[in-house]
Amino acid sequence: MPNTRILGIETSCDETAVAVYDHRQGLLAHVLHSQIDLHAYYGGVVPELASRDHIQRLLPLVREALSQAHTQPAELSAIAYTAGPGLLGALLVGAGVARSLAWGWGLPALAIHHLEGHLLAPLLEPDPPAFPFLCLLVSGGHTLLVDVQALGVYRILGESIDDAAGEAFDKTAKLLGLGYPGGAALAALALQGEPGRFSFPRPMTDRPGLDFSFSGLKTHALTTLRGLAGTDQDRADVAHAFEAAVVDTLCIKTRRALQQIQAQRVVVAGGVGANQRLRQQLAELAHSEGASVHYPRIAFCTDNAAMIALAGCLRLAHGSDPDLSICAQARWDLSSLRV
Ligand code: KG4
Ligand code: ZN
Repeated sequence: MPNTRILGIETSCDETAVAVYDHRQGLLAHVLHSQIDLHAYYGGVVPELASRDHIQRLLPLVREALSQAHTQPAELSAIAYTAGPGLLGALLVGAGVARSLAWGWGLPALAIHHLEGHLLAPLLEPDPPAFPFLCLLVSGGHTLLVDVQALGVYRILGESIDDAAGEAFDKTAKLLGLGYPGGAALAALALQGEPGRFSFPRPMTDRPGLDFSFSGLKTHALTTLRGLAGTDQDRADVAHAFEAAVVDTLCIKTRRALQQIQAQRVVVAGGVGANQRLRQQLAELAHSEGASVHYPRIAFCTDNAAMIALAGCLRLAHGSDPDLSICAQARWDLSSLRV
């Protein structure tokens, strides 16, 4: 097989990221600019500001990644870019730049599904999991349990019917005065909380099925906080109870899915996969079910271009057909993918 070297571009939300992945040498470079400071003032991502910032950041980051990877455009095999799901304007920046560079440099361009990138991210690590595996994908926009049979063969077993796990973390963090995005800050505050002072429900665990619902937990946090003086200890105790409820719920459904499809490997991906309590409980769960558990490193749990470059590399090796269109779609069903 000829050497394959891919430039990956990610702009689906509030991170501009570029990476270079080589199928023999692995990851050669990954650079990223986070827009968190830009959006923090507004308490959430402002799509128009996100698009404008991607425009300013993307080409300098492409230059930086190629330089770090000691790679000339002529040495690339293809450009892989996130084509969806995400914010349409933000996606269009990445897709437009990627397609134009590919055209100018005479390369194919591959339109990558952002969630496929997330669920393949653990393959960037040493000792990567083999297919098939169960993936718990928990990000700011999605909560999914996916039966991953092979590259491009994804069966969705369960998903959130309302807020994603990360979204619930962010909204509850806001109630606790923790800024945006507040998942990591809430987890830090929860460490000071007293276990057992409050008991939050484990939504939808008392009925069969693998779907999730997290919006009620945020309301539960709000009503609990209303009845309190709002001291630092009160806030920490609520954070603790909330985090415990989300993590327990994710683990209960993951165990169910493992048993249902008899998986031997579990992959955890997406920003909430950085949560230490979740990692610890999943490790115990997998151990008790005789399965192994695999995570990307923390930097590759959240949005990055390394996972997009890797997905592009695997797809190119499988003979995926690049085309000439500039592909950007805000909504895109993961289970509709093929190779
Ligand atoms: O995957 P990601 O970077 O973006 C999306 O594609 O959505 O995930 C971001 C989400 C945010 O909701 C953030 O609050 C959450 O991941 N997050 C965490 C932690 N670190 C990031 N949630 C809980 N605990 C953490 N340690
Ligand atoms: Zn993401």
